[in-house]
Amino acid sequence: MKATWTIGLLGWLAMSGATFALAADEPDKILGYRQNLMKSVGANISNIAMVAKGEVTYIGNVAANARAIRDGLAAADPLFPAGTGKEAGKTRALPSIWEDNAGFVKALKASQDAAEAMVVAADTSDLGQIQQALGVLGKTCGGCHDDFREKQ
Ligand code: HEC
Repeated sequence: MKATWTIGLLGWLAMSGATFALAADEPDKILGYRQNLMKSVGANISNIAMVAKGEVTYIGNVAANARAIRDGLAAADPLFPAGTGKEAGKTRALPSIWEDNAGFVKALKASQDAAEAMVVAADTSDLGQIQQALGVLGKTCGGCHDDFREKQ
């Protein structure tokens, strides 16, 4: 099953050739893409939290988790263009993202900086520093979600 799917995808990529790079990013596709990105950021912070709480001992993986979060957030800036709110499909992105775009960009920058600090803390392999950096990072996620993401 999986192999068939992979071959199909590769064939499709080969056929699309040069036009592939020129394809436009349709708003409904941007929604799915950014939700996948946020989910992966969420999964990585959840695993750091499990280590921080002492639920698991995989402290050696925190560096990779932290980098995934940093790289994910670093790629997030272009994923919220105007026209990708509810008018484009199923999303929790609030209109405030575009009404107060300066505030949104500032919230993203704060999280990107905290993710950078999370990488530094992870590289120390010191549980106390990891816990501290996680607390700061988590606040920046919540800080943006409070103002710019619809409550569930
Ligand atoms: C600058 C704002 C901002 C920051 C910072 C931010 N997020 Fe989000 N996040 C959003 C918005 C907006 C959505 C809703 C996206 C959508 O539905 O299109 C979202 C969605 C999510 C989702 C749900 C994905 C889904 O569709 O199921 C998770 C999980 C998530 N964020 C985790 C995080 C974590 C963890 C951090 C911090 C490391 C973080 N986010 C930082 C704005 C932000």
